[in-house]
Amino acid sequence: MKIYNIVILCLWIIYTFVYFLMFSKNKKKKRKSNKYFKVVLFLLIITVFINGIGIISSKTKANTNNTTTTPSSVSEETSEVTTMEETTTEETTTVTTKSTTTKSQSNGTYKKISYDLSGAIDKGKTSKGYSIQEKNGITYIDGYMIANKTYGLPESFNPGKLDSTVEAAASKMYQAAKNEKGYNMWGQSQFRSYETQKKLYNNYVARDGKSAADTYSARPGFSEHQTGLAFDVCAKGKPCITSDFNNTPEAKWLSDNAWRFGFILRYVNGKTNETGYKYESWHFRYVGSELAEKLYNNGNWITMESYFGFDSVYKD
Ligand code: DAL
Ligand code: ZN
Repeated sequence: MKIYNIVILCLWIIYTFVYFLMFSKNKKKKRKSNKYFKVVLFLLIITVFINGIGIISSKTKANTNNTTTTPSSVSEETSEVTTMEETTTEETTTVTTKSTTTKSQSNGTYKKISYDLSGAIDKGKTSKGYSIQEKNGITYIDGYMIANKTYGLPESFNPGKLDSTVEAAASKMYQAAKNEKGYNMWGQSQFRSYETQKKLYNNYVARDGKSAADTYSARPGFSEHQTGLAFDVCAKGKPCITSDFNNTPEAKWLSDNAWRFGFILRYVNGKTNETGYKYESWHFRYVGSELAEKLYNNGNWITMESYFGFDSVYKD
């Protein structure tokens, strides 16, 4: 009820009371006063009635206001709800990711990329008995595209960008890093063409000399970046594509979690003799979650070279 409703009511009551006192004692005026009193009573009823409407309308108004306020509060709530929903969705995504990842351990949500290897040349077996096939100058071991110091790629092989499956899985990984840890990560150097790699490698050779450059940079035609399956991760506020990234919590998270999204830490610490390269805490390659989990090996990463049984050595 609004104050003016109460004030009007009070004024009417006082007025009626005074009026009654003034005229009730005067017998002559009593009849007249009765008339006036009836009129006043009538007006009072009307007022009460109007007030009633006022009260009702003020209540309705209040309700409407609530509804009107509610739009903003609803919309705020809605946005909160939306945010919550988004969070939930995100969480669901994470949970889904987790559950599907768990599922993927048998189902393979992050599936192995399959290539049409019909007509591929049989190149025998690895030391561990996996098939080596070659098609259009590209080597596949157990169906996985390989690019290392032993197995190069043709200069003409140019997918032009990161594989869409890889890109989607990487996005999930960055999202999970954000949701679970608040890390802000992205793929800094992803697909690199033969030409780009050539320039890069030549710059390193000019700066550090060939043998040093070979420990951390692939020669053109030998970089995994040319496959469109590998990328280098950077994290906000952290050193990017440098060994200073190695001891960051973000690097640890990547090493512990990349497998969940089908990625492997490609150049494992202390395994230069297998991969041919120094440790790179930022370089990840897609293989799908089934193999990724095996290579993750509960945190003791196994290299592709060791798992499949092949080497990584330049011929010259
Ligand atoms: N840094 C890796 C080995 C590359 O150049 O592809
Ligand atoms: Zn890289």
